[in-house]
Amino acid sequence: MINTKNPKLAINGGEPISKEPIVIHKPYLKNDDREAILKAFDSTFISGDGPLCREFEKALAEYLCVKHVLYMNSATTALELAFRAKEFPPGSEVIVPDFTYTSSALAPLYNDINIVLCDVYPDNGSLDVSKLESYISDKTVAIVPVDYAGIPADMDEINRIAKKYGLYVVHDTAQSIGAEYRGKKTGNLADVSVFSFHGTKNITTGEGGALVTDDDTIAEKIKILREKGTNKYSFLTDNVTRGYYEYVDIGNSYVQSNILGAMGVTQMQKIDEILRIRTEIAECYKRSLSGIEGLDFVRITEGAKSNWHIFGILFPSEHKYWIMDALRAEGVYANVHYTPLHNNAFYKDYGTDEDFPGSVAFFKRLLRLPIYPDLTSSEINSVIAAVKKVFLSK
Ligand SMILES: Cc1ncc(COP(=O)(O)O)c(C=O)c1O
Repeated sequence: MINTKNPKLAINGGEPISKEPIVIHKPYLKNDDREAILKAFDSTFISGDGPLCREFEKALAEYLCVKHVLYMNSATTALELAFRAKEFPPGSEVIVPDFTYTSSALAPLYNDINIVLCDVYPDNGSLDVSKLESYISDKTVAIVPVDYAGIPADMDEINRIAKKYGLYVVHDTAQSIGAEYRGKKTGNLADVSVFSFHGTKNITTGEGGALVTDDDTIAEKIKILREKGTNKYSFLTDNVTRGYYEYVDIGNSYVQSNILGAMGVTQMQKIDEILRIRTEIAECYKRSLSGIEGLDFVRITEGAKSNWHIFGILFPSEHKYWIMDALRAEGVYANVHYTPLHNNAFYKDYGTDEDFPGSVAFFKRLLRLPIYPDLTSSEINSVIAAVKKVFLSK
């Protein structure tokens, strides 16, 4: 039982564990990133889809063992194009987990496709496959599994059901670069996968995303859609046309500057190191915090390995915001990240708390602890000490 009145707690006026705030995330930015950016700047090739963007795409394709990687300005855009490329009839339905970032649901909506929100497991926020078939109708065309926290969804079962009903699978792997499921890296587990390189992600180009697929037709279409509906991609590489390129479709401007591509290349060179350090921190948290009454860790899907994008703890919901405030008073910036979609104004007509008991339970019990490679040993120890102080306060 937590004693919320304990005077030693910083929230009650006691001495905090850390006087300096320990923030929740920090990008892993090093000198090689800075130098690569300056070099790209000096090259004067600063516009979109430049040689360094292509180099980043190639490195990512090799790392993930996939055929096509298309770098663009965000995962949100990549998700949108994953649906634009398929041209599903208006009125089609796509199944999206209730516990996700808005972009997973915006992607079908941008394309005039309806969304059907589905429930998630209460212990990891991942699409609850035992309920999945109950959401499928004759209008369903796709499923968008999401790897919340960098934990791969239950992809075998999702793919089995998708195959049974002939559904397209767009895997929202925005958070899960480097994570694995049954020996395969995410990016290999669906028709299309989408990564984010936003500043909070394991590797970053400030903003940015990539669409990943083995499907040639989808890749060719998206090369055109992300470049204003032009065939500039092959103009740059294949010398098909002579001094001009053509307007072959409706599209938009979703390419990324060569300067950001440069940073993608150097971030990729550190991806194994980033994953190793994140894993070490997560192991240290698990060792030090296991066995505390009322405190649990977010469950890792069977057969999966997290990339430790987020380290989540679960605890009795009645104290959630008090625990968050108590940790913050100790100097540890715990937060909750996002709320279930149906609790947001824009999605309020898509269901109620009764429709998503797993999602509501997960959200009520979840808090995130700081995790990133630049976290020092002393900061890690402070996080552990703060959690113990708050949870074990008698
Ligand atoms: C699950 C998920 N999908 C999509 C996105 C969107 O990523 P981006 O900011 O690159 O558009 C995010 C961002 O945090 C996310 O967490």
